[in-house]
Amino acid sequence: MEETIRYIESYIKDFKPETGIILGSGLGELADEYCDIAISYNDIPNFIKSTVKGHKGRLVFAKIAGRKVVMMQGRNHFYEGHTMSEITYPVKVMKKLGVKNLILTNAAGGINKDFKAGDLMLITDHINFMGANPLVGRNDDTLGERFPDMTEIYKKYLIELAKKCAADLNISLKEGIYFANSGPSYETPAEIRMASILGADAVGMSTVPEAIVANYCGLNVLGISCISNPASTSEGERLSHEDVIKAADKAKVKFKSLIVKIIESM
Ligand code: HPA
Repeated sequence: MEETIRYIESYIKDFKPETGIILGSGLGELADEYCDIAISYNDIPNFIKSTVKGHKGRLVFAKIAGRKVVMMQGRNHFYEGHTMSEITYPVKVMKKLGVKNLILTNAAGGINKDFKAGDLMLITDHINFMGANPLVGRNDDTLGERFPDMTEIYKKYLIELAKKCAADLNISLKEGIYFANSGPSYETPAEIRMASILGADAVGMSTVPEAIVANYCGLNVLGISCISNPASTSEGERLSHEDVIKAADKAKVKFKSLIVKIIESM
């Protein structure tokens, strides 16, 4: 960790980011539009590179609306074969860089029947169905405690702030519970029925590991999903990654403007 931080700080000097953003499918452009310093994951000691199409792999530092932020342009997923601790390492790095708030974004399948492709959903809570927890292993007491509380991962005051920003921009927002599967296969209709019975509103393959680690180390988390497709049903259409990317792309203008407004208001 010390090696990682030393390397990053040699680039960013006294740029101290206060907010971190992990950019999901379709949102990566934000880090092209706002980019003061970019460091490729491949160059950072102990980072892993991203392997999914549509995800770049850079840590991007920029001022957005006058606020200093660090963005992950491209995230690493459990389904790529990385360990939970590898994919959540960047969150710990952000904490060590002095970040206070973390905005997590993703593309997700809509389970709630009121959701349609292109909707944005504030994550109010999650269900970890990935079969693994990123905090398994020896605890680093400098980051957090062994048995961390998870009663309010997605901070209510940030949810309220995001709602106000959306209202100001005339963007309608859904709210709901994010259900995380390991992937990479999409769900079966029976699995989606199960998730629905368990109270889930949207389903995806990311975000939850980062949210657990961020909450554990005291970051204020806000999570937003872009609903890219209705989740699998026996009457529904077949799912493809291309369609998910296309739908996330369509929503990206409003998604980006909402993120910028939230950063400005934080
Ligand atoms: N299921 C899981 N992950 C996803 C989906 C989905 O339907 N859409 C986007 N990411």
